[in-house]
Amino acid sequence: TVVSIKSLLAGRVAQGSEVEVRGWIRSRRDSKGGFSFLALHDGSAQAAIQVVAPGELANYQADVLRLTAGCSVIAKGVLVESQGKGQSFEIQASGIEVCGWVDDPDTYPIAKKRHSFEYLRTVAHLRPRTNTFGATTRVRTVLANAVHRYFYEREFQWINTPLITASDCEGAGEMFRVSTLDLMNLPRTEQGAVDFGADFFGKEAFLTVSGQLNAEAYCLAMSKVYTFGPTFRAENSNTSRHLAEFWMVEPEIAFANLDDDAALAEDFLRYLLTQVLENCEDDLAFFNQFVDEGVLARAQKVASTPFERMDYGDAIKILEKSGKKFEYPVRWGLDMQSEHERYLCEEHVGGPLIVTNYPKDIKAFYMRLNDDGKTVAAMDVLAPGIGEIIGGAQREERLDVLDMRMAEQGLEGLEWYRDLRRYGTVAHAGFGLGFERLLNYITGMENIRDAIPFPRTPKHADY
Ligand code: 4AD
Ligand code: MG
Repeated sequence: TVVSIKSLLAGRVAQGSEVEVRGWIRSRRDSKGGFSFLALHDGSAQAAIQVVAPGELANYQADVLRLTAGCSVIAKGVLVESQGKGQSFEIQASGIEVCGWVDDPDTYPIAKKRHSFEYLRTVAHLRPRTNTFGATTRVRTVLANAVHRYFYEREFQWINTPLITASDCEGAGEMFRVSTLDLMNLPRTEQGAVDFGADFFGKEAFLTVSGQLNAEAYCLAMSKVYTFGPTFRAENSNTSRHLAEFWMVEPEIAFANLDDDAALAEDFLRYLLTQVLENCEDDLAFFNQFVDEGVLARAQKVASTPFERMDYGDAIKILEKSGKKFEYPVRWGLDMQSEHERYLCEEHVGGPLIVTNYPKDIKAFYMRLNDDGKTVAAMDVLAPGIGEIIGGAQREERLDVLDMRMAEQGLEGLEWYRDLRRYGTVAHAGFGLGFERLLNYITGMENIRDAIPFPRTPKHADY
């Protein structure tokens, strides 16, 4: 029977069983006794399985002794207790079938040695074969499933919001334009020149920066909803925290205020961390050993400690009094930069921090105006090592105030969004969690380009 390496290592297959494993060679070591040890990985687990290939195999000389890292093989044999150190099981092979050779082992881009993450980004199609990207991929999968499980168990509906839209939810003008490029039938100008337009069947359309506005429509009917999908930002920033295409989780809850929103964010994050601690033990241990030795302790602490909360005004005072030389200015009314966010959660609090009630002029039009007339019911969750990991708010549910805010920001249209305030409006709130930033936070990986299989950043969209 075909088995995954994960199920073998978890002891789900009885010793003495005939098994077949399929995967790629990580390494080969030949013993003086005339047999070879093959380390085989198949992506299901951090560890490789040791396959002992005896010299008696018909293709031992012809094939086994030529195996190098990266070759694909099917190994059949008996699962036995291992004599060697480092693993409890191994496979005593009765057959090794080579499916694919590695053309030239000397130029194989992922030869078995340590590579820098920077280099691995240039071979993004091969990097999933490395330990680190295998681990990242598995943690990402566990997290994605945990996101859906969390909301499903709490009766949220999953709303698939459109990727093509006319609305700029965040009002930051960082949108990619979508155009119908029908090469056979490009429209012509009056002079006959090709008019590339820049439109979506005659309308202006963009890739979405957030599913929130659409999620609000469903929230005001289904009570508890969330989106989980790709979002796009045309910000030309080359930082370790920004992608042009990233995944966002956006819950939206009705009959709820900012406190309810913050409580949800905290409970949700703690749940996700607990799930990773429970389901990714080996991978977390790997990150802890090779990437960031704080990973395990941090996950355990965050999963069990309430988050600190702080008013934006107080945060500014703390930054002003810190005596730190920041690159960007600190003043009430200015947006916080990641150096400020990191100072607050890393040096002041020593853990995740929820900052609330930001000045209205630096926040989006949909955030609910507070009674002071100067701030809005916004919140950001800040995480050590990352900075902002979640951005959210209570929404402006009063039509007259919404209209005033839209006018202030020069926004027009959005009639459908205004309808939601006209027909059965109610206090509601939500947030957006950057999925890759969360993955970086949990794994200790520093660059967001290493948290998504194929990163999209300025000038990088090859494959
Ligand atoms: O703070 P943002 O812009 O909030 C929104 O989009 C709201 N509409 C969310 C909501 O309330 N439903 O983005 C939310 C999160 C950020 O906190 C950050 O983690 C992540 O999305 N994010 C990015 N991640 C990677 N690359 C980028 N360019 C990102 N921009 C935002
Ligand atoms: Mg934000």
